[in-house]
Amino acid sequence: MDGTGDHIRIQGIRKTFDNGDIVACDDVNIDIDEGEFVILVGPSGCGKTTTLRCIAGLEEPDEGQILVDGDDITGLQSKDRNLAFVFQSIALFPHMSVRKNIRFGLDMNTDLDGDEKNQRVEKVAQTLGLAEMLDRKPSALSGGQQQRVSLGRAMVMEPKAFLLDEPFSALDANLRDEMRVEVKKIQRDLNTAMVFVTHDQEEAMTLGDKIVVMNDGHVQQIGTPYDIYNDPKNRFVADFIGSPSPNLLECTVEQTADGIAFVSEFCTIPATERQVEHVEHRVGETVIYGLRPEYLDIKDSDGAFAADLDVVEPLGDRDAVHLSANGTSLSAVTPQGEVARGTDSVHVDIQTEESWLFERDGTRIV
Ligand SMILES: Nc1ncnc2c1ncn2[C@@H]1O[C@H](COP(=O)(O)OP(=O)(O)OP(=O)(O)O)[C@@H](O)[C@H]1O
Ligand SMILES: [Mg+2]
Repeated sequence: MDGTGDHIRIQGIRKTFDNGDIVACDDVNIDIDEGEFVILVGPSGCGKTTTLRCIAGLEEPDEGQILVDGDDITGLQSKDRNLAFVFQSIALFPHMSVRKNIRFGLDMNTDLDGDEKNQRVEKVAQTLGLAEMLDRKPSALSGGQQQRVSLGRAMVMEPKAFLLDEPFSALDANLRDEMRVEVKKIQRDLNTAMVFVTHDQEEAMTLGDKIVVMNDGHVQQIGTPYDIYNDPKNRFVADFIGSPSPNLLECTVEQTADGIAFVSEFCTIPATERQVEHVEHRVGETVIYGLRPEYLDIKDSDGAFAADLDVVEPLGDRDAVHLSANGTSLSAVTPQGEVARGTDSVHVDIQTEESWLFERDGTRIV
């Protein structure tokens, strides 16, 4: 149980239910390096929990392998994998003390001596701020403290990796933020790989070293938070990550007097040099022009187009400005207070260098 140096490889995992009628996940390939914090994120039903359960050995995949340092562990039982699973719902034993709850896995699955077990429990309780509460029952703890006990139960096992399925979904927003920071710190200190499932794209962005975006049972993209945000591989990833959602405009590629441009219902946007070579042979075809809200600039005059201002939504240091232009809804993000109250129409400029182009089927062009 050295706990370090392990590399976990998920290779071509497919899992179906109901005699193959339900494909929960398919062709899932993920590398988890030593000490890496990997997030599985995607909408409800996309196969996150199923993938995690296959890694844990709680489901048997129809196809594919789980390798740890090159050894195929796909056939091993869950208890022999030394991977710790933390469930979405807090599953503590109500009649046992915090101490016994944390010790539970050690008592069940190891033959360590009592001293070693006690030492591990004390150390973990210290790390998690539970040292004063070891003799309480779970009912005498707050939700956040209870979730810490679940984590402690996983930590005492000194696993090769932690597998966490939406562990903070039952907590209120402030506590969730606090626990995120805490888990990230603990993960850094332990330097143990962690695979963390969430449907919350913001949680994914703030926690992960590596983000795996899933949809409909398939991995859509794997990358750092910045890769995923700045350079989405397809329309789904662009749309799912980031809030407010990006602007996605259906445009026709046209040859104008000034060169190749994208023409939507309310504006004509010149193609950048980078884009021209990908679309100059496609005049007359439809593409999707994508742009994050922060790359629309609000102005008093001129700009690329005029728009009605629907709602200004304060986000804290920034405002989300919701616009409509010829029936199309758009969002911009501006510094706090930049758009004066009572404004009802604005001009908008486009930072074209920051834009993406997608095919109508959602694949990225450039
Ligand atoms: N035991 C099962 N029997 C039948 N279908 C299942 C089973 N477990 C999962 N599924 C189906 O497989 C698909 C993926 O489910 P999974 O629980 O992995 O999704 P998820 O991404 O974790 O979703 P959520 O965010 O809602 O937890 C869903 O369509 C689900 O209904
Ligand atoms: Mg789930």
